[in-house]
Amino acid sequence: MQHKCASVVAGNPQADGTVLHSRNPANLDDVVAEVTLAGPETFVRAAEAAKNAQPEWAKIPAPVRGQVIARLGRLVEANKEALARLITREIGKPLAESLGEVQEIVDTCDFFLGEGRRLYGQTVPSEMPDKQLFTFRVPVGVTAIITAANFPAAVPSWYLVPALLCGNTVVWKPAELSAAVGQALAELAWRAGVPRNVLNLVQADGKATFEGLDKALQAGLIDKVGFTGSTEVGRQISELCGRHLQSPCLELGGKNPLVVMADANLDLAVEGALFSGFGSAGQRCTSLGTVFVQREVHDEFLSRFTQAVEEAIVGDPSQGVLYGPLIDTRYAERFEEYLKLVQAHHTVHGSTGTGRITDANPRKGFIGNPEDGVFVHPTIVDGVTKEDALYRDETFGPLVGVGTFDTFDEAVELANGHGYGLSAAIYTTDAGNAFRFRERCRAGMVSVNNSTSGAEAHLPFGGNGLSGNGSRQSGVWVLDQFTRWQSMNWDYAGKLQKAQMDMVELPEADLAYRLED
Ligand code: UN1
Repeated sequence: MQHKCASVVAGNPQADGTVLHSRNPANLDDVVAEVTLAGPETFVRAAEAAKNAQPEWAKIPAPVRGQVIARLGRLVEANKEALARLITREIGKPLAESLGEVQEIVDTCDFFLGEGRRLYGQTVPSEMPDKQLFTFRVPVGVTAIITAANFPAAVPSWYLVPALLCGNTVVWKPAELSAAVGQALAELAWRAGVPRNVLNLVQADGKATFEGLDKALQAGLIDKVGFTGSTEVGRQISELCGRHLQSPCLELGGKNPLVVMADANLDLAVEGALFSGFGSAGQRCTSLGTVFVQREVHDEFLSRFTQAVEEAIVGDPSQGVLYGPLIDTRYAERFEEYLKLVQAHHTVHGSTGTGRITDANPRKGFIGNPEDGVFVHPTIVDGVTKEDALYRDETFGPLVGVGTFDTFDEAVELANGHGYGLSAAIYTTDAGNAFRFRERCRAGMVSVNNSTSGAEAHLPFGGNGLSGNGSRQSGVWVLDQFTRWQSMNWDYAGKLQKAQMDMVELPEADLAYRLED
Protein backbone atom coordinates (compact mmCIF):
# COMPACT_ATOMS: atom_id res chain seq x y z
CA MET A 1 0.00 0.00 0.00
CA GLN A 2 1.13 3.52 -0.76
CA HIS A 3 0.36 6.02 2.01
CA LYS A 4 -0.77 9.58 1.43
CA CYS A 5 0.69 11.93 3.99
CA ALA A 6 -0.10 15.58 4.60
CA SER A 7 -0.18 17.99 7.49
CA VAL A 8 -3.30 17.81 9.66
CA VAL A 9 -4.28 21.02 11.47
CA ALA A 10 -7.12 20.68 13.96
CA GLY A 11 -8.23 17.56 12.12
CA ASN A 12 -8.16 19.14 8.66
CA PRO A 13 -5.73 17.73 6.10
CA GLN A 14 -3.71 20.48 4.41
CA ALA A 15 -3.48 19.89 0.70
CA ASP A 16 -1.02 22.63 -0.33
CA GLY A 17 2.70 22.08 -0.83
CA THR A 18 5.33 20.21 -2.79
CA VAL A 19 5.27 16.43 -3.04
CA LEU A 20 8.02 14.15 -1.75
CA HIS A 21 8.21 10.40 -2.17
CA SER A 22 9.23 8.52 0.93
CA ARG A 23 10.91 5.36 -0.32
CA ASN A 24 11.76 2.01 1.20
CA PRO A 25 15.55 2.20 1.54
CA ALA A 26 15.83 -1.58 1.14
CA ASN A 27 14.01 -1.36 -2.16
CA LEU A 28 13.99 2.10 -3.68
CA ASP A 29 11.31 1.17 -6.21
CA ASP A 30 8.85 0.81 -3.36
CA VAL A 31 7.28 4.24 -2.71
CA VAL A 32 6.02 4.02 0.87
CA ALA A 33 4.30 7.37 0.92
CA GLU A 34 3.49 10.37 -1.17
CA VAL A 35 4.08 13.25 1.21
CA THR A 36 2.69 16.74 0.72
CA LEU A 37 5.25 18.99 2.36
CA ALA A 38 3.82 22.13 3.93
CA GLY A 39 5.31 25.60 3.99
CA PRO A 40 6.00 27.73 7.08
CA GLU A 41 2.42 29.13 7.20
CA THR A 42 1.02 25.68 7.89
CA PHE A 43 3.32 25.38 10.88
CA VAL A 44 2.02 28.72 12.17
CA ARG A 45 -1.60 27.68 11.59
CA ALA A 46 -0.95 24.46 13.48
CA ALA A 47 0.51 26.45 16.35
CA GLU A 48 -2.57 28.70 16.39
CA ALA A 49 -4.85 25.68 16.50
CA ALA A 50 -2.79 24.21 19.35
CA LYS A 51 -2.89 27.50 21.22
CA ASN A 52 -6.68 27.72 20.94
CA ALA A 53 -7.10 24.15 22.11
CA GLN A 54 -4.77 24.33 25.09
CA PRO A 55 -7.00 25.80 27.84
CA GLU A 56 -9.71 23.17 27.30
CA TRP A 57 -7.20 20.30 27.25
CA ALA A 58 -5.56 21.58 30.43
CA LYS A 59 -8.98 21.71 32.12
CA ILE A 60 -9.40 17.95 31.76
CA PRO A 61 -8.22 16.41 35.04
CA ALA A 62 -4.75 14.86 34.75
CA PRO A 63 -6.00 11.37 35.76
CA VAL A 64 -8.44 11.52 32.86
CA ARG A 65 -5.69 12.61 30.46
CA GLY A 66 -3.78 9.64 31.89
CA GLN A 67 -6.60 7.37 30.76
CA VAL A 68 -6.29 8.73 27.23
CA ILE A 69 -2.60 7.85 27.38
CA ALA A 70 -3.54 4.38 28.67
CA ARG A 71 -5.78 3.89 25.65
CA LEU A 72 -2.99 5.03 23.34
CA GLY A 73 -0.71 2.42 24.90
CA ARG A 74 -3.27 -0.33 24.34
CA LEU A 75 -3.97 0.79 20.78
CA VAL A 76 -0.26 0.87 19.93
CA GLU A 77 0.11 -2.58 21.48
CA ALA A 78 -2.74 -3.90 19.34
CA ASN A 79 -1.05 -2.42 16.25
CA LYS A 80 2.48 -3.41 17.25
CA GLU A 81 3.30 -5.65 14.30
CA ALA A 82 1.77 -3.35 11.67
CA LEU A 83 3.53 -0.27 13.00
CA ALA A 84 6.83 -2.14 13.29
CA ARG A 85 6.51 -3.39 9.70
CA LEU A 86 5.88 0.17 8.56
CA ILE A 87 9.00 1.38 10.40
CA THR A 88 11.03 -1.36 8.75
CA ARG A 89 9.58 -0.55 5.35
CA GLU A 90 10.02 3.20 5.60
CA ILE A 91 13.45 3.53 7.26
CA GLY A 92 14.93 0.04 6.92
CA LYS A 93 15.35 -0.83 10.60
CA PRO A 94 15.50 -4.62 11.15
CA LEU A 95 12.07 -5.90 12.16
CA ALA A 96 13.21 -7.10 15.61
CA GLU A 97 14.45 -3.60 16.40
CA SER A 98 11.29 -2.02 14.98
CA LEU A 99 9.23 -4.21 17.29
CA GLY A 100 11.45 -3.03 20.16
CA GLU A 101 10.89 0.55 19.10
CA VAL A 102 7.11 0.12 19.20
CA GLN A 103 7.41 -1.57 22.60
CA GLU A 104 9.20 1.56 23.82
CA ILE A 105 6.05 3.58 23.02
CA VAL A 106 3.94 1.11 24.98
CA ASP A 107 6.37 1.33 27.91
CA THR A 108 6.24 5.12 27.78
CA CYS A 109 2.43 5.11 27.83
CA ASP A 110 2.40 2.58 30.68
CA PHE A 111 4.65 4.82 32.73
CA PHE A 112 2.76 8.05 32.08
CA LEU A 113 -0.77 6.72 32.50
CA GLY A 114 0.07 6.45 36.21
CA GLU A 115 1.70 9.86 36.25
CA GLY A 116 -1.76 11.25 35.46
CA ARG A 117 -2.73 10.20 39.00
CA ARG A 118 0.46 11.58 40.53
CA LEU A 119 1.76 14.75 38.92
CA TYR A 120 2.51 15.61 42.51
CA GLY A 121 2.95 19.04 43.97
CA GLN A 122 4.08 19.63 47.54
CA THR A 123 2.76 21.17 50.72
CA VAL A 124 5.56 23.22 52.24
CA PRO A 125 5.74 24.66 55.76
CA SER A 126 5.75 28.44 56.03
CA GLU A 127 8.13 30.42 58.28
CA MET A 128 5.04 32.18 59.65
CA PRO A 129 2.02 30.90 61.58
CA ASP A 130 -1.36 30.56 59.92
CA LYS A 131 0.15 30.38 56.50
CA GLN A 132 0.60 27.36 54.21
CA LEU A 133 2.76 27.03 51.12
CA PHE A 134 2.11 24.77 48.14
CA THR A 135 3.69 23.90 44.81
CA PHE A 136 1.82 22.94 41.65
CA ARG A 137 2.91 21.69 38.26
CA VAL A 138 1.45 23.88 35.53
CA PRO A 139 1.45 22.92 31.85
CA VAL A 140 3.90 24.89 29.75
CA GLY A 141 1.31 25.58 27.01
CA VAL A 142 1.95 24.82 23.35
CA THR A 143 4.82 22.51 22.52
CA ALA A 144 6.53 22.17 19.13
CA ILE A 145 8.08 18.73 18.74
CA ILE A 146 10.55 18.11 15.92
CA THR A 147 11.89 14.59 15.61
CA ALA A 148 14.32 12.52 13.54
CA ALA A 149 13.92 9.57 11.17
CA ASN A 150 16.16 7.09 13.02
CA PHE A 151 13.66 6.50 15.85
CA PRO A 152 10.53 7.66 14.04
CA ALA A 153 8.02 6.43 16.62
CA ALA A 154 9.64 5.76 20.03
CA VAL A 155 11.51 9.03 20.38
CA PRO A 156 8.48 11.13 19.34
CA SER A 157 6.47 9.30 22.01
CA TRP A 158 9.05 10.38 24.59
CA TYR A 159 7.91 13.94 23.89
CA LEU A 160 4.28 13.58 22.85
CA VAL A 161 3.13 11.36 25.70
CA PRO A 162 4.40 13.46 28.64
CA ALA A 163 3.59 16.74 26.85
CA LEU A 164 -0.04 15.67 26.40
CA LEU A 165 -0.30 14.11 29.84
CA CYS A 166 0.86 17.34 31.45
CA GLY A 167 -1.91 19.35 29.74
CA ASN A 168 -0.01 20.81 26.81
CA THR A 169 -1.09 20.84 23.20
CA VAL A 170 1.28 19.84 20.43
CA VAL A 171 2.51 20.69 16.97
CA TRP A 172 4.48 17.63 15.86
CA LYS A 173 6.83 17.70 12.89
CA PRO A 174 8.11 14.18 12.18
CA ALA A 175 11.10 13.69 9.88
CA GLU A 176 10.00 13.84 6.25
CA LEU A 177 11.88 10.57 5.63
CA SER A 178 9.56 8.85 8.09
CA ALA A 179 6.37 10.71 7.20
CA ALA A 180 4.22 7.58 7.00
CA VAL A 181 5.28 6.40 10.45
CA GLY A 182 4.54 9.90 11.74
CA GLN A 183 1.10 9.87 10.19
CA ALA A 184 0.40 6.40 11.61
CA LEU A 185 1.42 7.31 15.15
CA ALA A 186 -0.63 10.51 15.04
CA GLU A 187 -3.62 8.53 13.77
CA LEU A 188 -3.27 6.08 16.67
CA ALA A 189 -3.17 9.00 19.11
CA TRP A 190 -6.28 10.60 17.59
CA ARG A 191 -8.11 7.26 17.56
CA ALA A 192 -7.15 6.76 21.22
CA GLY A 193 -9.01 9.95 22.07
CA VAL A 194 -6.42 12.72 21.81
CA PRO A 195 -8.48 15.55 20.30
CA ARG A 196 -7.37 16.47 16.80
CA ASN A 197 -6.79 20.11 17.69
CA VAL A 198 -4.68 19.01 20.67
CA LEU A 199 -2.23 17.07 18.48
CA ASN A 200 -1.49 18.81 15.18
CA LEU A 201 0.71 17.18 12.60
CA VAL A 202 2.98 19.12 10.25
CA GLN A 203 4.69 17.31 7.40
CA ALA A 204 7.43 19.67 6.26
CA ASP A 205 11.13 19.81 5.51
CA GLY A 206 13.65 21.31 7.88
CA LYS A 207 13.83 24.72 6.21
CA ALA A 208 10.06 25.35 6.21
CA THR A 209 9.86 24.07 9.78
CA PHE A 210 12.56 26.42 10.98
CA GLU A 211 10.88 29.39 9.29
CA GLY A 212 7.48 28.39 10.66
CA LEU A 213 8.92 27.93 14.13
CA ASP A 214 10.60 31.33 13.97
CA LYS A 215 7.29 32.97 12.99
CA ALA A 216 5.26 31.05 15.55
CA LEU A 217 7.71 31.95 18.32
CA GLN A 218 7.56 35.60 17.30
CA ALA A 219 3.78 35.46 17.39
CA GLY A 220 3.94 34.04 20.91
CA LEU A 221 2.30 30.78 19.86
CA ILE A 222 4.93 28.31 21.09
CA ASP A 223 6.01 27.85 24.70
CA LYS A 224 8.39 24.90 24.48
CA VAL A 225 10.37 23.26 21.71
CA GLY A 226 11.47 19.63 21.80
CA PHE A 227 14.06 18.64 19.20
CA THR A 228 15.90 15.43 18.41
CA GLY A 229 18.49 15.65 15.66
CA SER A 230 21.94 16.90 14.81
CA THR A 231 24.08 19.08 17.05
CA GLU A 232 24.27 21.66 14.27
CA VAL A 233 20.49 22.10 13.96
CA GLY A 234 20.11 21.83 17.73
CA ARG A 235 22.41 24.81 18.07
CA GLN A 236 20.28 26.85 15.63
CA ILE A 237 17.07 25.89 17.41
CA SER A 238 18.62 26.70 20.75
CA GLU A 239 19.70 30.15 19.52
CA LEU A 240 16.22 30.81 18.17
CA CYS A 241 14.55 29.72 21.40
CA GLY A 242 17.06 31.72 23.44
CA ARG A 243 15.89 34.91 21.72
CA HIS A 244 12.45 34.17 23.14
CA LEU A 245 13.87 33.34 26.56
CA GLN A 246 13.04 29.70 26.11
CA SER A 247 15.20 26.68 26.71
CA PRO A 248 14.38 23.80 24.37
CA CYS A 249 14.46 20.12 25.27
CA LEU A 250 17.26 18.82 23.06
CA GLU A 251 18.48 15.36 22.20
CA LEU A 252 21.45 15.74 19.86
CA GLY A 253 24.33 13.75 18.42
CA GLY A 254 26.85 11.54 20.11
CA LYS A 255 30.30 10.05 19.79
CA ASN A 256 29.56 7.38 22.30
CA PRO A 257 32.65 5.65 23.70
CA LEU A 258 32.96 2.08 24.91
CA VAL A 259 35.95 1.40 27.15
CA VAL A 260 37.33 -2.14 27.38
CA MET A 261 39.56 -2.68 30.41
CA ALA A 262 42.12 -5.47 30.38
CA ASP A 263 40.09 -7.27 33.07
CA ALA A 264 36.91 -7.25 30.94
CA ASN A 265 35.03 -10.29 29.71
CA LEU A 266 36.05 -9.83 26.06
CA ASP A 267 33.22 -11.91 24.58
CA LEU A 268 30.72 -9.70 26.35
CA ALA A 269 32.52 -6.57 25.17
CA VAL A 270 32.54 -7.81 21.56
CA GLU A 271 28.83 -8.58 21.72
CA GLY A 272 28.12 -5.10 23.11
CA ALA A 273 30.30 -3.38 20.52
CA LEU A 274 28.70 -5.33 17.67
CA PHE A 275 25.15 -4.46 18.75
CA SER A 276 25.75 -0.81 19.56
CA GLY A 277 28.15 -0.16 16.70
CA PHE A 278 26.32 -1.87 13.88
CA GLY A 279 22.73 -2.54 15.04
CA SER A 280 20.32 -0.18 13.23
CA ALA A 281 23.31 0.35 10.87
CA GLY A 282 24.90 2.57 13.51
CA GLN A 283 22.11 5.11 13.13
CA ARG A 284 20.98 5.38 16.73
CA CYS A 285 21.87 8.48 18.73
CA THR A 286 23.27 5.96 21.19
CA SER A 287 25.33 4.10 18.58
CA LEU A 288 28.89 3.31 19.46
CA GLY A 289 31.47 5.80 18.14
CA THR A 290 34.86 4.55 19.32
CA VAL A 291 35.98 1.54 21.35
CA PHE A 292 38.97 2.32 23.56
CA VAL A 293 40.81 -0.86 24.48
CA GLN A 294 43.52 -1.28 27.11
CA ARG A 295 46.76 -2.10 25.33
CA GLU A 296 47.23 -5.62 26.80
CA VAL A 297 43.98 -6.86 25.23
CA HIS A 298 43.80 -4.65 22.15
CA ASP A 299 44.93 -7.22 19.58
CA GLU A 300 42.76 -9.96 21.02
CA PHE A 301 39.72 -7.68 21.17
CA LEU A 302 40.25 -6.40 17.63
CA SER A 303 40.59 -9.88 16.22
CA ARG A 304 37.41 -11.14 17.96
CA PHE A 305 35.50 -7.96 17.06
CA THR A 306 36.60 -8.18 13.43
CA GLN A 307 35.51 -11.79 13.25
CA ALA A 308 32.08 -10.97 14.74
CA VAL A 309 31.55 -8.11 12.29
CA GLU A 310 32.74 -10.19 9.33
CA GLU A 311 30.29 -12.93 10.25
CA ALA A 312 27.34 -10.61 10.91
CA ILE A 313 24.53 -10.74 8.39
CA VAL A 314 23.65 -7.55 6.54
CA GLY A 315 20.77 -7.20 4.12
CA ASP A 316 16.99 -7.37 3.88
CA PRO A 317 15.72 -5.90 7.18
CA SER A 318 12.74 -8.24 7.31
CA GLN A 319 15.07 -11.27 7.44
CA GLY A 320 16.67 -11.30 10.89
CA VAL A 321 19.82 -9.42 9.84
CA LEU A 322 22.09 -7.40 12.14
CA TYR A 323 21.38 -4.39 10.01
CA GLY A 324 19.64 -3.36 6.83
CA PRO A 325 19.95 -0.29 4.64
CA LEU A 326 20.77 3.26 5.68
CA ILE A 327 17.69 5.43 6.11
CA ASP A 328 18.05 7.18 2.76
CA THR A 329 20.36 7.68 -0.21
CA ARG A 330 21.61 10.96 1.23
CA TYR A 331 22.75 9.15 4.39
CA ALA A 332 24.80 6.83 2.16
CA GLU A 333 26.38 9.80 0.38
CA ARG A 334 27.29 11.32 3.73
CA PHE A 335 28.65 7.95 4.89
CA GLU A 336 31.02 7.86 1.92
CA GLU A 337 32.28 11.30 3.04
CA TYR A 338 32.98 9.93 6.52
CA LEU A 339 35.06 7.17 4.99
CA LYS A 340 37.42 9.86 3.67
CA LEU A 341 38.38 10.53 7.29
CA VAL A 342 40.28 7.23 7.31
CA GLN A 343 44.00 8.03 7.21
CA ALA A 344 47.24 6.25 6.41
CA HIS A 345 47.94 5.35 10.05
CA HIS A 346 44.59 3.54 10.33
CA THR A 347 43.77 -0.03 9.37
CA VAL A 348 40.32 -1.01 8.13
CA HIS A 349 38.56 -4.27 9.08
CA GLY A 350 35.17 -5.96 9.19
CA SER A 351 34.03 -6.59 5.63
CA THR A 352 34.84 -7.59 2.10
CA GLY A 353 34.86 -3.92 1.02
CA THR A 354 33.99 -0.41 2.15
CA GLY A 355 31.29 2.04 1.08
CA ARG A 356 28.20 1.02 -0.88
CA ILE A 357 27.48 -2.70 -1.14
CA THR A 358 26.87 -3.47 -4.82
CA ASP A 359 27.24 -6.42 -7.14
CA ALA A 360 30.74 -5.16 -7.93
CA ASN A 361 31.57 -4.46 -4.26
CA PRO A 362 29.79 -7.37 -2.54
CA ARG A 363 29.44 -8.19 1.13
CA LYS A 364 29.93 -11.81 2.09
CA GLY A 365 26.69 -13.40 3.29
CA PHE A 366 24.49 -10.48 2.20
CA ILE A 367 20.77 -11.33 2.17
CA GLY A 368 18.78 -9.87 -0.72
CA ASN A 369 19.85 -7.76 -3.65
CA PRO A 370 22.12 -4.90 -2.53
CA GLU A 371 21.49 -2.93 -5.72
CA ASP A 372 17.81 -2.57 -4.79
CA GLY A 373 18.53 -0.36 -1.80
CA VAL A 374 21.00 1.79 0.15
CA PHE A 375 23.34 -0.70 1.81
CA VAL A 376 26.86 -0.03 3.05
CA HIS A 377 29.64 -2.23 4.38
CA PRO A 378 30.34 -2.31 8.11
CA THR A 379 33.69 -0.67 8.80
CA ILE A 380 36.01 -0.93 11.77
CA VAL A 381 38.84 1.60 11.76
CA ASP A 382 41.69 0.71 14.09
CA GLY A 383 44.37 3.10 15.28
CA VAL A 384 42.12 6.07 16.10
CA THR A 385 43.96 8.67 18.16
CA LYS A 386 42.85 11.85 19.89
CA GLU A 387 44.12 13.97 17.00
CA ASP A 388 41.94 12.27 14.37
CA ALA A 389 38.73 13.67 12.91
CA LEU A 390 37.35 10.15 13.38
CA TYR A 391 37.82 10.65 17.11
CA ARG A 392 35.89 13.94 17.19
CA ASP A 393 33.24 13.76 14.45
CA GLU A 394 29.99 11.86 14.72
CA THR A 395 29.93 9.39 11.81
CA PHE A 396 26.28 8.41 11.58
CA GLY A 397 26.33 4.90 10.11
CA PRO A 398 28.07 1.53 10.49
CA LEU A 399 31.56 2.83 11.22
CA VAL A 400 33.30 2.13 14.53
CA GLY A 401 36.73 3.43 15.52
CA VAL A 402 39.11 1.51 17.77
CA GLY A 403 41.76 3.22 19.88
CA THR A 404 44.22 2.10 22.54
CA PHE A 405 45.05 3.33 26.04
CA ASP A 406 47.41 2.37 28.82
CA THR A 407 45.95 3.82 32.02
CA PHE A 408 42.44 4.27 33.37
CA ASP A 409 42.96 8.06 33.46
CA GLU A 410 43.76 8.01 29.76
CA ALA A 411 40.59 6.02 29.07
CA VAL A 412 38.48 8.61 30.88
CA GLU A 413 40.16 11.43 28.98
CA LEU A 414 39.51 9.69 25.65
CA ALA A 415 35.91 8.96 26.62
CA ASN A 416 35.23 12.64 27.35
CA GLY A 417 37.66 14.55 25.14
CA HIS A 418 35.52 14.81 21.97
CA GLY A 419 32.97 17.03 23.69
CA TYR A 420 29.85 14.87 23.22
CA GLY A 421 28.11 13.41 26.24
CA LEU A 422 25.09 11.26 25.46
CA SER A 423 26.04 7.70 26.32
CA ALA A 424 29.17 5.81 27.36
CA ALA A 425 29.98 2.25 28.38
CA ILE A 426 32.73 0.45 30.23
CA TYR A 427 33.46 -3.27 30.25
CA THR A 428 35.29 -4.32 33.39
CA THR A 429 35.11 -6.92 36.14
CA ASP A 430 36.40 -4.43 38.72
CA ALA A 431 33.61 -2.55 40.53
CA GLY A 432 36.09 0.21 41.37
CA ASN A 433 36.67 0.92 37.67
CA ALA A 434 32.93 0.94 37.06
CA PHE A 435 32.13 3.46 39.78
CA ARG A 436 35.15 5.66 39.02
CA PHE A 437 34.19 5.71 35.35
CA ARG A 438 30.61 6.66 36.21
CA GLU A 439 31.85 9.49 38.37
CA ARG A 440 34.27 10.96 35.86
CA CYS A 441 32.42 10.37 32.62
CA ARG A 442 30.41 13.32 31.30
CA ALA A 443 27.76 11.27 29.46
CA GLY A 444 24.09 11.47 30.47
CA MET A 445 23.90 7.66 30.43
CA VAL A 446 26.67 5.29 31.53
CA SER A 447 26.49 1.54 31.07
CA VAL A 448 28.59 -1.08 32.80
CA ASN A 449 29.06 -4.38 30.94
CA ASN A 450 26.28 -3.37 28.56
CA SER A 451 26.42 -1.51 25.29
CA THR A 452 26.03 2.23 24.69
CA SER A 453 22.47 1.59 23.44
CA GLY A 454 19.52 0.33 25.43
CA ALA A 455 17.97 3.24 27.29
CA GLU A 456 14.82 2.19 29.13
CA ALA A 457 11.68 4.29 28.93
CA HIS A 458 11.62 5.31 32.59
CA LEU A 459 15.21 6.46 33.14
CA PRO A 460 16.35 10.02 32.38
CA PHE A 461 17.71 10.26 28.85
CA GLY A 462 19.63 13.17 27.41
CA GLY A 463 23.03 14.61 26.79
CA ASN A 464 25.61 17.11 27.90
CA GLY A 465 28.06 19.20 25.91
CA LEU A 466 27.60 18.72 22.17
CA SER A 467 24.87 16.14 22.86
CA GLY A 468 22.43 18.53 24.49
CA ASN A 469 21.79 21.30 26.97
CA GLY A 470 21.26 19.06 29.97
CA SER A 471 17.53 18.62 29.40
CA ARG A 472 16.28 15.12 30.17
CA GLN A 473 13.52 13.05 28.66
CA SER A 474 11.70 10.04 30.07
CA GLY A 475 10.54 9.04 33.52
CA VAL A 476 9.60 11.70 36.05
CA TRP A 477 12.50 13.85 34.89
CA VAL A 478 10.80 14.93 31.67
CA LEU A 479 7.95 16.44 33.70
CA ASP A 480 10.24 19.39 34.36
CA GLN A 481 10.34 19.98 30.59
CA PHE A 482 6.59 20.00 30.11
CA THR A 483 5.44 21.67 33.30
CA ARG A 484 6.55 24.71 35.23
CA TRP A 485 6.50 24.93 38.97
CA GLN A 486 4.05 27.39 40.43
CA SER A 487 4.22 28.16 44.13
CA MET A 488 1.30 29.35 46.22
CA ASN A 489 1.25 31.20 49.56
CA TRP A 490 -2.01 30.89 51.47
CA ASP A 491 -2.31 33.16 54.49
CA TYR A 492 -5.18 32.63 56.91
CA ALA A 493 -3.85 34.83 59.73
CA GLY A 494 -6.42 37.53 58.97
CA LYS A 495 -3.70 40.17 58.84
CA LEU A 496 -0.84 40.96 56.48
CA GLN A 497 2.20 38.88 57.48
CA LYS A 498 5.41 40.13 55.90
CA ALA A 499 7.94 37.45 54.95
CA GLN A 500 11.45 38.02 56.34
CA MET A 501 10.16 40.95 58.44
CA ASP A 502 7.44 39.57 60.72
CA MET A 503 9.74 36.98 62.19
CA VAL A 504 8.68 34.42 64.75
CA GLU A 505 10.90 34.65 67.83
CA LEU A 506 13.06 31.64 68.53
CA PRO A 507 13.26 30.11 72.02
CA GLU A 508 16.21 31.48 74.03
CA ALA A 509 19.58 29.89 73.37
CA ASP A 510 23.02 30.11 75.03
CA LEU A 511 25.37 30.00 72.05
CA ALA A 512 28.41 30.87 74.19
CA TYR A 513 28.07 27.51 75.97
CA ARG A 514 31.04 25.07 75.53
CA LEU A 515 31.46 21.58 76.91
CA GLU A 516 34.15 21.16 79.55
CA ASP A 517 37.02 18.78 78.71
C1 UN1 B 1 17.95 7.57 19.98
O1 UN1 B 1 18.84 7.01 19.36
O2 UN1 B 1 17.55 8.71 19.68
O3 UN1 B 1 18.90 3.29 23.84
C2 UN1 B 1 17.23 6.94 21.11
C3 UN1 B 1 18.48 3.16 22.70
C4 UN1 B 1 17.02 3.37 22.42
C5 UN1 B 1 16.73 4.82 22.28
C6 UN1 B 1 17.67 5.56 21.38
N1 UN1 B 1 16.24 2.80 23.46
O4 UN1 B 1 19.22 2.92 21.76
